[in-house]
Amino acid sequence: MTKKIILTGDRPTGKLHIGHYVGSLQNRVKLQNSGEYDSFIMIADQQALTDNARDPEKIRNSLIQVALDYLAVGIDPEKSTILVQSQIPALSELTMHYLNLVTVSRLNRNPTVKSEIQQKKFGQSVPAGFFIYPVSQAADITAFKATTVPVGEDQEPMLEQTREIARSFNSIYGKEILVEPEGYFPPKGLGRIPGLDGNAKMSKSLNNAIYLADDADTILKKVMSMYTDPDHIHVEDPGKVEGNVVFTYLDIFDSDKEKVADLKAQYQHGGLGDVKIKRYLNEVLQAELAPIRERREAFEKDIDSVYAILKAGSEKANAVANQTLKEVQDAMGINYFG
Ligand code: TRP
Repeated sequence: MTKKIILTGDRPTGKLHIGHYVGSLQNRVKLQNSGEYDSFIMIADQQALTDNARDPEKIRNSLIQVALDYLAVGIDPEKSTILVQSQIPALSELTMHYLNLVTVSRLNRNPTVKSEIQQKKFGQSVPAGFFIYPVSQAADITAFKATTVPVGEDQEPMLEQTREIARSFNSIYGKEILVEPEGYFPPKGLGRIPGLDGNAKMSKSLNNAIYLADDADTILKKVMSMYTDPDHIHVEDPGKVEGNVVFTYLDIFDSDKEKVADLKAQYQHGGLGDVKIKRYLNEVLQAELAPIRERREAFEKDIDSVYAILKAGSEKANAVANQTLKEVQDAMGINYFG
């Protein structure tokens, strides 16, 4: 049986946080270690540049931060190919061919892009490259003939568009060349971690994130600043666990489910203070994040070797993407010189 293929990635616009970790990094490591997949993990610097063209330095610096985060969580270059999007020219060529199969009105309907356009306050000045990034993402995925794309739920519209493009390419050019991918999502309710402030989204711009690179003190401070139940003023007051970020995090990170259930009951009943429960969450988080941070620090001492990993991965990726591009050009009949 041929192996299934994974392609996934992240935009390098900053360090990765625990939202990325529970939303997709953990899944990637699990799938990588299952041995059932050929796994390609892409640092999508070109996609990041679609709304950061004036700040390439930010992207260049973030690229290495994201690479460190990958290695730290256990993405293993012996098992997964880590590649840099901009170093794979075939991706840009595929994008150009796919753009002709997609209408402007279809792009306008992509809900993720729509909401990003609002969030980023582009107004009338949406960069054209940003507007079409779902097509470039379809190129990323299909270049590797990925069957499986482990991502957060917000990426489902990209997968939908990728499947449409693959289907229409295959039907127009009469060959089953491109593969329709499936998403691989985190378990319901566990894939989305709110920010420290209770905002539904954890993000750098909201300044409400815990980073994989955060040191122990920073994690403690952040946990202590977390949003709980604003009406839980005295220890003996009954408290609410719904929407209480501390309990949401415990649900996600504490494997001792019985203990979490007990703590919730106590909190709701009254008599369990916020400081105490935060100290407990801090212990749980430190235990999870310390080994990640230590691995990160080890790789950080040898940045040259990290670049070497990215270079080797990109070379391997080029071979695969070039082959797909050739098949695409053959199917289109534009391989003029043999
Ligand atoms: N759009 C993804 C994000 O914002 C990053 C990405 C780029 C990606 N290309 C991809 C994800 C291909 C999966 C597959 O996180």
